[in-house]
Amino acid sequence: MIAITGATGHLGQLTIHALLDLGTPAADIVALVRDPQKATDLSARGVQVRRADYTQPETLGPALQGVDKLLLISSNDVADRATPQRHVVEAAKAAGVKLLAYTSILGAATDKMRLAADHQTTEADIRASGVPFVFLRNGWYLENYNVAQAAQFGALPGSAGEGRVSAASRADYAAAAAAVLTLPDQDNTVYELGGDQAFTLGELAAEVQAASGRPVAYQNMGEAAYAELLRGFGVPAPLAEKLADADTHLEKGELYTDSGDLSKLIGRPTTPMKQWVNQTLKS
Ligand SMILES: NC(=O)c1ccc[n+]([C@@H]2O[C@H](COP(=O)([O-])OP(=O)(O)OC[C@H]3O[C@@H](n4cnc5c(N)ncnc54)[C@H](OP(=O)(O)O)[C@@H]3O)[C@@H](O)[C@H]2O)c1
Repeated sequence: MIAITGATGHLGQLTIHALLDLGTPAADIVALVRDPQKATDLSARGVQVRRADYTQPETLGPALQGVDKLLLISSNDVADRATPQRHVVEAAKAAGVKLLAYTSILGAATDKMRLAADHQTTEADIRASGVPFVFLRNGWYLENYNVAQAAQFGALPGSAGEGRVSAASRADYAAAAAAVLTLPDQDNTVYELGGDQAFTLGELAAEVQAASGRPVAYQNMGEAAYAELLRGFGVPAPLAEKLADADTHLEKGELYTDSGDLSKLIGRPTTPMKQWVNQTLKS
């Protein structure tokens, strides 16, 4: 059995659909969720739905019974992901899980950005547990960029300068996760995942302009000013600061890869940024 945490989140949903598309029987998939009421669509498709909360260790043992492979999707609680995720690692070990895949961050071994710290801790916990692992070191999502808003206001803000980002669509990262959960011989493998063609945020703004037919410019600003702008848009202060910090590190190359791991895992080129922008603005 293959279990997916965060199964009611964006990446979890896409991963389960990718597993089904690969021919995995629904009855062999376990959707681990905080709130089963949010997963009635998965139950209707025959996927097993079990309650699992990283912050409630008592839910994790029963949830992992009979699970061979587990995808731990990193928590979206940026205040502290490492402690709750440690509970999942401990439960996976106790349950005898044979493969633990974890959605980490691109370049986790060397990243200095603040968002990477929890991922580094969880990777170390997983290695120390002795459970065979796969680190899916995901680069930036294309979906992080609000291109509809950029087209509306004529500006794409950031503090990444001329840095190049190897962003890819969530669906491509989900396809990669489904691949490692179904391919043989994945034990103790590290994948550095990103889109085939990196781009600057100026190039992204130019594509938004071309697709929308409206003038759109990349608005580069200092890290503190960008964090303040994000707070003004309603992003909670700790997250706003970490996102602006991430842009600063993007400029230094921390969200760039030319590994080709993502396209190799999914067996096709990654979705080009231009195509994603066009699709997103049409929807
Ligand atoms: N690479 C990137 O650019 C990027 C961007 C954003 C996020 N991320 C990371 O990638 C993860 C997946 O992305 P996403 O787009 O799928 O995020 P998402 O839609 O916010 O999903 C996060 C999932 O984590 C679950 N979760 C959070 N805390 C939990 C807990 N204590 N116990 C059990 N489940 C818990 C949530 O459960 P509920 O459904 O119950 O809320 C949700 O299903 C994020 O959580 C974040 O760590 C990466």
